Amino acid sequence: MNHFIELLNLQENAAVISLFGALLVIGVVIFLIISASKSEDKEEATRKVYKLRSRYLWGLSGILVILLIVSLGSTPYHRESQVADEVVSVVGYQWLWKMAPGAYDKSLAQFNGKDEITLPVDKTIEFIVTSNDVNHNFAIYNSKGYIVAETQAMPDYKNNLYYTFKEKGDYKVLCLEYCGLAHAFMEGTIHVK
Ligand code: CUA
Repeated sequence: MNHFIELLNLQENAAVISLFGALLVIGVVIFLIISASKSEDKEEATRKVYKLRSRYLWGLSGILVILLIVSLGSTPYHRESQVADEVVSVVGYQWLWKMAPGAYDKSLAQFNGKDEITLPVDKTIEFIVTSNDVNHNFAIYNSKGYIVAETQAMPDYKNNLYYTFKEKGDYKVLCLEYCGLAHAFMEGTIHVK
């Protein structure tokens, strides 16, 4: 069961799943073109399309029910401990991240963070995340490029993200909410030691 869930790991298999979906759509389109080019009367063609559509609906519903049953065992998702060993303040700006140890509650314009920070392994970190301007999304990626934690960075609002780094290394911080021209270059680094 767990192995099957691993196979369904979307991050790892996104390309394969997309390819499969695209081939399915191409197949259906080719089928429709072939069946439409035959000299059938209109009624017969309509009947075929309706039949195909209902098969598609039931097929898709079946797949969704199976996915629901298979994935039900892994919910609710494991919650990180809510008792923090260390607190880090994070502020998103167009277009950079600033991070600093401790809770910060003064003017964001004067926030003295950096785009990199060093944090301990195996300690629960509470990230207090906000934004100085527009909505951003604070996302932490491990060295393999997998997302390990994320939360929205919103102006005038603080989101608390708890995460325990289990492995040492450099984690990349990226923005997951389109926030303007240089959105893709909003990078930060968390060194876990
Ligand atoms: Cu900040 Cu996209």
